[in-house]
Amino acid sequence: MKEHLIIFDTTLRDGEQSPGASMTADEKIRIARMLERMNVDVIEAGFPAASPGDFESVRLIASEITDSRVCALARASESDILRAAEAVKPARASRIHTFIATSPIHMREKLRMQPDEVIEQAVKSVKLARQFTDDVEFSPEDAGRTEFEFMLRILEQVIDAGATTINIPDTVGYTLPQEFGTIIRRLKESLPNVDKVVLSVHCHNDLGVAVANSLAAVQNGARQVECTINGLGERAGNASLEEIVMAVRTRKDQFDCDTRIDCTQIVPISRLVSNVTGFLVQPNKAIVGANAFAHEAGIHQDGVIKNRETYEIMRAQDVGWNANRMVLGKHSGRNAVRERLKALGIEFNSEEELNRTFVRFKDLADKKHEILDDDLQALVTEANSDKRHEHYRLVTMRASSQSGEAPEARVTMLVDGNEVTAESSGSGMVDATFRAIEALVASGSELQLYSVNAITSGSDAQGEVSVRLMKNGGIVNGHGADTDIVIASARAYIDALNALATSGTRQHPQSGAAV
Ligand code: KIV
Ligand code: ZN
Repeated sequence: MKEHLIIFDTTLRDGEQSPGASMTADEKIRIARMLERMNVDVIEAGFPAASPGDFESVRLIASEITDSRVCALARASESDILRAAEAVKPARASRIHTFIATSPIHMREKLRMQPDEVIEQAVKSVKLARQFTDDVEFSPEDAGRTEFEFMLRILEQVIDAGATTINIPDTVGYTLPQEFGTIIRRLKESLPNVDKVVLSVHCHNDLGVAVANSLAAVQNGARQVECTINGLGERAGNASLEEIVMAVRTRKDQFDCDTRIDCTQIVPISRLVSNVTGFLVQPNKAIVGANAFAHEAGIHQDGVIKNRETYEIMRAQDVGWNANRMVLGKHSGRNAVRERLKALGIEFNSEEELNRTFVRFKDLADKKHEILDDDLQALVTEANSDKRHEHYRLVTMRASSQSGEAPEARVTMLVDGNEVTAESSGSGMVDATFRAIEALVASGSELQLYSVNAITSGSDAQGEVSVRLMKNGGIVNGHGADTDIVIASARAYIDALNALATSGTRQHPQSGAAV
């Protein structure tokens, strides 16, 4: 009987810390429901002290999710821990995850605290957190660059104070697999009370080895891995959940533990996270990239036809590639749409939400013959993002291009309830459209990213557009989908403008002093 490897997903917390990846509370709930469905053990739902909105999202997830443990992050400070405790209070199973930096450079430059003060603060915080839940995780931030003897001292004391999970973060993605595996092995050998806790790891991908580091840690005794869908996360991202889970499953011979993840949910949730955040999955990404199971080269195809195992080490359907083929069309009714979305893990909070999605569905069905699950996911994201369309709304638009002529666009929008129209030319129809919108809005923002992705195959596919805008150091993303990519682009731009207009200030958990 293999030991259990706990999968701790931090897509909604560390993943969301990725610039531009912020999600609405509804989007977070949709992702949390799907994580629960795939049997993720712990969902890190957010950092409640960041803002009232973040607090509310964690509280909603804690109220809704019953089968996974819901965790909230808190710096090692009284106010953060009280906020986290309040946010996870409704959860059937809760966890508070508290952390403080322990590397010399972080203690000196960021915290401006002496090592003994750091230990004192950590112990106090773990004790406080234990008053609210019997499941408390502690992380010595920047453990990868922390002096080993100091790490032993602080960890021994936080375990005595009541921590039940010790998480070792390679915060800046500095270590290499053998080195990181050795840290875990040495902790198992030399930390006197290590048998009272689960050892966990949290690796960042700055050197492209987050998954390799996590796997090395598991082979050396770690029994929890912190990871994210699609490897989303701060800077180069976190270890990717799908790669960890499939490595442990495919190379059973190399691991004395296993996960409980329902792998058939991997591709659907990867699509959902990509769709909601606008962070596209690169085609050659392991497991969830479009090419991951495509055997293009003739020689490979020949081998696969003769015997699949010649070139395939995993089966596409085992990670959910085929789960996405259900087809709806223009004759499908509301019930069919509702039922299909339910099967995808998407439930509506009100009839009004379903109605709004159904109107979009009918619209799309007029233009596109077959509506696949990915189209439906995009429709729901679109319909939901309407909720924040308080300031700007697209009424109608026209764009034209002709060889030898400057492309032009005419856009009519509602700006705070008033209908206004502007025309502009540009280097292409999308550029002309964005210029026309800016002529109406004068947002003063800078376009940082524009990307288009075909949601399904075929020339009638919906184009899914992501736009990233920056203003005064704040970054927001907007998304739009339509069979016409110029209209999708206008929607994405307007979505980003609304996000900009409604975005408040948020605290970053790792930006300042803990106390
Ligand atoms: O990378 C990191 O150190 C973190 C901690 C908050 C665990 O995300
Ligand atoms: Zn992190």
